[in-house]
Amino acid sequence: MKIILLYGGQSAEHEVSILSAFSVLSAVYYNYYQVQLVYITKDGQWVKGPVLTEKPASEEVLRLHWQEAGDTDQLIQPCQIKEDNAIVLPILHGPNGEDGTIQGFLETIDMPYVGAGVMTSASSMDKIMTKYILYAVGIPQVPYVPVLKNQWKENPQKIFEQCEGTLLYPMFVKPANMGSSVGITEANDRDELQQALNTAYCYDSRVVIEQGIEAREIEVAILGNEDIRTTLPGEIVKDVAFYDYNTKYINNSIKLQIPAQIPAEVQDKAREYAKIAYTTLGGRGLSRCDFFLTNKNELFLNEINTMPGFTQFSMYPSLWEKTGLPYGDLIEELIQLGLNQYKQKKGLQIDVDE
Ligand SMILES: Nc1ncnc2c1ncn2[C@@H]1O[C@H](COP(=O)(O)OP(=O)(O)O)[C@@H](O)[C@H]1O
Ligand SMILES: [Mg+2]
Repeated sequence: MKIILLYGGQSAEHEVSILSAFSVLSAVYYNYYQVQLVYITKDGQWVKGPVLTEKPASEEVLRLHWQEAGDTDQLIQPCQIKEDNAIVLPILHGPNGEDGTIQGFLETIDMPYVGAGVMTSASSMDKIMTKYILYAVGIPQVPYVPVLKNQWKENPQKIFEQCEGTLLYPMFVKPANMGSSVGITEANDRDELQQALNTAYCYDSRVVIEQGIEAREIEVAILGNEDIRTTLPGEIVKDVAFYDYNTKYINNSIKLQIPAQIPAEVQDKAREYAKIAYTTLGGRGLSRCDFFLTNKNELFLNEINTMPGFTQFSMYPSLWEKTGLPYGDLIEELIQLGLNQYKQKKGLQIDVDE
């Protein structure tokens, strides 16, 4: 069977996607699968690369240059990825990848794929929408104020008052549709809030301002379609207050503590919230659910990522590894879940026809 590995992408998380894709290629079981590389360039062109039957020598193999193309690398239309007996693995993060757009495209061309569907991807990617949905099922979240760009442009004074009336400094200002901390700034006073808002609107017209809290960061890995499994939580041990893009991917200064050293009741609660959030949002395949934990052992759900970082050092595969599911087996499970999801959808369509 063929895995069509989609990676790169137009989002700010392009590089992260390449690292994740390389890790996948290092672990996939080549005795069962061939891997077709399909690279999405930063400007949105799709490049069909070689079919790999073994682990590539380096991550450079993934950076396809169609201009210098030999026989294999070629510029294609997205729909040309379609083929039989294949499943798409979209290792894409952020907008145009993790937000339902690629998923909708794959539904349209009728290809099976790994991971969450359109609705789940879109609503989990949007930090405001996630908050609204999870509020409805009683999941605790930090206080926040959602602000659209036109509201900010029309009346900044009103937005300052609204934020300062609801939240205390420091506040965290976030574009609703981003990841990897891109566009997120901590604001400690009104001047910084103004700057932070202007920064966030460079990335999205939807912005959320959150109460900044001092907390540990706890993450739970989720796997499954109907039968949902969760891992014990892991902790991102921070030596910085704000876990920004550089800390995450450039400095490599993050330590993962698996399992997190937290009371058993807190572990259970985090897993329960993760499962409720996943089910409510209609999760399929995988997700990573991230929490803040205060020193009073209060848990707040921060976000749910439908395509979490997938390098071999990332939290999601590491959590499964420690749970007894090595990286190669994890990919295999995800493929089977994707195929089951596709078969189930087909089954439903056939039922309706009959
Ligand atoms: N309300 C908050 N209080 C304190 N720190 C925060 C808050 N929100 C975010 N952070 C910090 O910023 C990081 C990135 O925020 P997050 O909401 O997880 O965005 P992303 O989708 O980019 O991962 C978090 O991991 C955390 O370190
Ligand atoms: Mg995060």
